[in-house]
Amino acid sequence: MVVVTQPAAGDFKAFTSTCTHWGCQVTAVENDQIICRCHGSRFSATDGSVILGPATLPLGPKAVTVKDGQLTLG
Ligand code: FES
Repeated sequence: MVVVTQPAAGDFKAFTSTCTHWGCQVTAVENDQIICRCHGSRFSATDGSVILGPATLPLGPKAVTVKDGQLTLG
């Protein structure tokens, strides 16, 4: 599964939604951070990097494009 963010208007990013800590699904995007509530890891909504552990590896990026107002993954 994938989590899609919009760090700036019209700038969409997508990442795997599987947390790199123990594999829970991330469940929220708040204040430009992607959040895994299993153990509290937080990732950048811009580049998927770890902001707060216990995760140590970033969320992997996924390709996302916007055309005619529609998001396409892959
Ligand atoms: S599985 Fe996400 S913080 Fe542990």
